[in-house]
Amino acid sequence: MTKRRDGVGAERGSRMHPRRRFAVVEVALVVGLISAGWISVPPSAQSGASVADGVFTEAQASRGEATFRRVCSACHDTGEFSGGRFRLTWVGQTAGDLFDTIATLMPEGDPGSLTPAQYAAVVAYLLQVNGYPAGESDLPTSLSALRGLEIVAAP
Ligand code: HEC
Repeated sequence: MTKRRDGVGAERGSRMHPRRRFAVVEVALVVGLISAGWISVPPSAQSGASVADGVFTEAQASRGEATFRRVCSACHDTGEFSGGRFRLTWVGQTAGDLFDTIATLMPEGDPGSLTPAQYAAVVAYLLQVNGYPAGESDLPTSLSALRGLEIVAAP
């Protein structure tokens, strides 16, 4: 229900389908129950923030690109982390999950050898490669802040 890609808007045609009208009522009902505190949702879903909201800067993504070329490209091609492969692995998770995976496991043989700012920049670069828009402020380096940013399907 909270997953955006479950596309209420995916239906074709200009007239509003009766099923769609029902879905709108359902969404309103659930939102009502959540605000009344009858249904609890995880913090990331509650805040509604996502990586599609312009959560990194162009400058940060280019720093990440430089780091990726210097450190990661010895073993990886960006193609491994973009398009359908990125979608299958990461959509539905958070920027924190991606950051945590990279920061605790990579580079293989020397995990944790980059600074949090460098790992965050690499994540920003991977988001940019996947078509998410840049914005006004850098992607945070704090895991809890990053966990509040859901990886939704790229716009
Ligand atoms: C010395 C080789 C090496 C380097 C350098 C390296 N990796 Fe990896 N990486 C691997 C191997 C091996 C795996 C596990 C097999 C796989 O998924 O390809 C892996 C897996 C991953 C995964 C998990 C894939 C998944 O979806 O489960 C991510 C993400 C990743 N690497 C990102 C990075 C990033 C970002 C860097 C640079 C900071 C980096 N790696 C540097 C070898 C390396």
